[in-house]
Amino acid sequence: MSTHIIEFVFQRGDKKGRLRPVNRKDWAQIVGWWNDPEVRRLFDVHFVDQTFSDAEKWFAKAGSEEEEKLPRSFVIEVDLDGKWVPVGTAEFYNERPSHKTAEFGFLIGDKNWWGKGIGTETAKRMVRYGVDQVGYKRIGAVSAAYNVRSLNALQKAGFQIEGIRKSYVLRDGDYHDQTMMSVVRPD
Ligand SMILES: CC(C)(COP(=O)(O)OP(=O)(O)OC[C@H]1O[C@@H](n2cnc3c(N)ncnc32)[C@H](O)[C@@H]1OP(=O)(O)O)[C@@H](O)C(=O)NCCC(=O)NCCS
Repeated sequence: MSTHIIEFVFQRGDKKGRLRPVNRKDWAQIVGWWNDPEVRRLFDVHFVDQTFSDAEKWFAKAGSEEEEKLPRSFVIEVDLDGKWVPVGTAEFYNERPSHKTAEFGFLIGDKNWWGKGIGTETAKRMVRYGVDQVGYKRIGAVSAAYNVRSLNALQKAGFQIEGIRKSYVLRDGDYHDQTMMSVVRPD
């Protein structure tokens, strides 16, 4: 099995999930998730319709020689009766190689799988991979302050709140704060 497949269990260990590198064939499904209004209203970035070329930009480096060695973008899959089914994405973005930092983002696009522990397990595995294998010193994450599941999953994965951007997100005519978080590898 590829060393870039990261396995985990969720729902109190009852179910199996895994992270595998994103490839071009995933993009159409991912754009569909981005454009789902219920998913979108929890995000503070993809607030306008996304297209295939947005996916192309977002995953520009997926498949590059560097990312062949250590992928930064993964599809989250769950084991359904022995078949791996894609349910979301997890990735590092805005990497600053000379500083060894990046931002972490995750999304479960199939809403049937929200609140079952997949996000928490994904964040934990991605932090471990980012620090131990990619070599990041710092991994940041941001979340709209109303996105309780995201904030909780990130904190359970070791992220600490480092600040609030006030009135950063305009949703349905109201402004909301954005919570800034990070995991910093000890020296
Ligand atoms: C954010 C997201 C990735 C979290 O993943 P998830 O698998 O749904 O989250 P988890 O099941 O691991 O839950 C994390 C915590 O959120 C809380 N939570 C779970 N369900 C909840 C609910 N219905 N209401 C409020 N909080 C809830 C719990 O504290 C949970 O911890 P627990 O397992 O100890 O109870 C996922 O919900 C998602 O993709 N949402 C839409 C897109 C998005 O918001 N992406 C993140 C943008 S920053």
